[in-house]
Amino acid sequence: MIILAIESSCDESSVAVVTGEGEILSNVIRSQIKNHKRFGGVVPELASRLHAESFHRITDKALEEANMTLSDVDVIAVTSGPGLEGALLIGVCYAKTLGVLIGKPVIPINHLHGHIFAGIKAGDSPFPYVGLIVSGGHTLLVKCDDGGVFDLLGVTRDDACGEAFDKVARMLGLAYPGGPEIELQAKDGDPKAVRFPRAMIKDGLEFSFSGLKTAVMQYVKANPDTSVPDICASFQACVGDILVAKATRACKQVGTTLLVVSGGVAANAYLSGRLQSELADQGITVNTPPKGLCTDNAGMIGLAACRWIDWQGIQERPFHVVANLGVRIP
Ligand code: KG4
Ligand code: ZN
Repeated sequence: MIILAIESSCDESSVAVVTGEGEILSNVIRSQIKNHKRFGGVVPELASRLHAESFHRITDKALEEANMTLSDVDVIAVTSGPGLEGALLIGVCYAKTLGVLIGKPVIPINHLHGHIFAGIKAGDSPFPYVGLIVSGGHTLLVKCDDGGVFDLLGVTRDDACGEAFDKVARMLGLAYPGGPEIELQAKDGDPKAVRFPRAMIKDGLEFSFSGLKTAVMQYVKANPDTSVPDICASFQACVGDILVAKATRACKQVGTTLLVVSGGVAANAYLSGRLQSELADQGITVNTPPKGLCTDNAGMIGLAACRWIDWQGIQERPFHVVANLGVRIP
């Protein structure tokens, strides 16, 4: 079986060709970052327009790289949400139109399921495991069970972790997206230079990053001469402590020895390294997808589609986009 997967929930237009066994034959990503950079964040209307311009070309490229044509495609899988409504609509309309043209079914895939399955090898059945999604739009812990049963363990009460990275970067005059910039700066900084507050670290599985954002802002105002690398390293260390504490607690509560971390923030080598080494001390294995599968991409949507097709077969049904508007608006 050949799956053509389509992703357009935020600022990456992506098309992938994935086999029914979960092999990613191609995963073409057209990032819009350079188009949004000068606005300091994602502009939803611009994102929709750029998606509309991109999909034909990147579909051709994805098929070419996989050495396939449209006639080889058996099913189309498309992100139906959550994400920016307009951006999602472009991907869904494109997928549905293509489905009619080639006479193949189109199935909706939840973007978060994509992140959850990006870190699990096809065919592996390590259920139940804990998924930690840390992206620009979401921060959550979820118990993942066989058959596609997801039990939400804790979400952020306010900002997503990636959003905190982006906003702190902006306060420090660093470019968008802030995550990679902060990671780079932090390499030359002292993680113990400033002790930022670790919100709700002592108990529970919920997160809160808005106080941390404010604490950094107040610190920068009061200490304009402090080195940017020191603030970045201290901020990153704070996030690391929170993620390690919450993820460990979630795994213990579920009684699993596997944590899958994904989403854009999982591309941070310092954070994934800390999760890996500190959870290993507790007997917990941490899977992090390769960098290209952490940030938004259609390959992960194809991998989630494989799972759903295994569990439910191909169930064609009418569907709409599931919007979660505003999560990335600056
Ligand atoms: O998963 P993603 O591509 O999009 C959403 O679904 O939101 O995540 C994007 C987020 C941005 O906030 C970005 O700053 C963050 O992931 N990010 C990082 C790194 N690379 C991307 N955060 C920390 N360190 C990184 N290396
Ligand atoms: Zn995402």
